[in-house]
Amino acid sequence: MDVYIGADHGGYQIKEQLKPFLRELGYNPIDIGNTEIDPADDYPDVGERLKEAVEQNTDKDNLRAVLICGSGIGMSIAANKIRGVRAVLGGAPENAYFARLHNDANVLCLSGLKSNSTSIERVIDGDYRNLIDAGMTPANLNEAKRIVKVFLETATEAVPGSRHRRRVEKIGKLEGGA
Ligand code: RB5
Repeated sequence: MDVYIGADHGGYQIKEQLKPFLRELGYNPIDIGNTEIDPADDYPDVGERLKEAVEQNTDKDNLRAVLICGSGIGMSIAANKIRGVRAVLGGAPENAYFARLHNDANVLCLSGLKSNSTSIERVIDGDYRNLIDAGMTPANLNEAKRIVKVFLETATEAVPGSRHRRRVEKIGKLEGGA
């Protein structure tokens, strides 16, 4: 199965490390960029490349993608603008599990960066600007792998006739589709 994978500068490092892991799991990663660490790149541009891939994909039920930016938040907002995409921010394996089980999510977004103990202490002093100023480091790769594995290996319960499918179809109606 093909799995699109993309990242901005905040997620580039994790993206590169997840590609061989996807192959180990038996998936075919298709890299939609960025192809280098460019601190000036913009996560919606990766979203644009996912949109093109989704439009060309003929097997809509088997669409899967993993997108990574610094927080994972920008990527999830951008991806959810694409018709037919149900993107989730997978902060923990259980998020990925329920996103597949109940929501038939097809795009997993991850945080590529985490705060460190110094930055967290400064935030306790009350100023969140310090979190970025104190520096963020790449997220935990093993945790990212756990989340990706659960996401890709969990079958959805949103099958035709189920209450979960009814709800997913109502989400589709919100974007003007089925
Ligand atoms: C880029 O600096 C950062 O804003 C981006 O990676 C992401 O965290 C946005 O949501």
